[in-house]
Amino acid sequence: MDKTQPIGVIDSGVGGLSVLKWLSKKMPREHFIFLGDTARIPYGDRPREELIGFVRELTSYLDRRNIKQLVVACNTITTLGVDVIGRGYDFDVIGMVKGSPELQRISRKHRVGFFATDFTVAAGSYKKEIERLNPDVKAFGLGCPKLVPLIEGEKFDTPEMEAAINEYATIMKSWDVDTVLLSCTHYPFLKEEIQKALGPAITVIDPAAMTTERAYRNLAERGLLNDSGEGSLEICFTRDVERCKRLASRMLDVNECVFHEVTLEASQG
Ligand code: DGL
Repeated sequence: MDKTQPIGVIDSGVGGLSVLKWLSKKMPREHFIFLGDTARIPYGDRPREELIGFVRELTSYLDRRNIKQLVVACNTITTLGVDVIGRGYDFDVIGMVKGSPELQRISRKHRVGFFATDFTVAAGSYKKEIERLNPDVKAFGLGCPKLVPLIEGEKFDTPEMEAAINEYATIMKSWDVDTVLLSCTHYPFLKEEIQKALGPAITVIDPAAMTTERAYRNLAERGLLNDSGEGSLEICFTRDVERCKRLASRMLDVNECVFHEVTLEASQG
């Protein structure tokens, strides 16, 4: 492997751009290839076996593009396990951060919530990881299936979006948490609205910054940080590039990105 190889970043759609924003800020000399599977989003309500097949298609594409590291900018995919995702490849796989030992300090009540897809909540590993890292903390996960279609459908500032956010915020508040993680990479597109609905007493955390640290450390330890030249951002989707470009402008300077549509090859299993 060499330093100049690109870093791959995957998601089911535009959500992972909220992670790419942090990655590109922290590592401006790196070449990033983002791949969002907008042809088949949402991933969050599909069976595990089907998801594994889809993810294999995303990772094979990026393997052919010769990446040195894969950042899984999707909590639903992360739930499948980095060992499963990376099986048979040379690159390292960095999953989304599920929890942090810091939560013990941040949450005075020792009650931490997370918003995620139904798939992520049902998998149980986020709750387990938060409670393992913080033995005094109790974690509460809430699936928010209405949010991803509304975000991908650009329904910002609509009554439907407001109603959905309020519905989920009301349930979360009833659990008396004081800290909430956005454990779906689409949700930072609504960070302000979610914070407003939860109120000022609740700290909202986007795990993208911690995930970026994890990706950075991994490259530094392997001597693979690109330390010269200018980086680049190539952003690929499997459908609707124009719509995705509009959404991307909420996270990145789209004039600095190259966008295109890609067709994935069916997985060989
Ligand atoms: N952005 C993805 C995540 O972080 C999920 C979106 C979907 O349901 O496809 O979980």
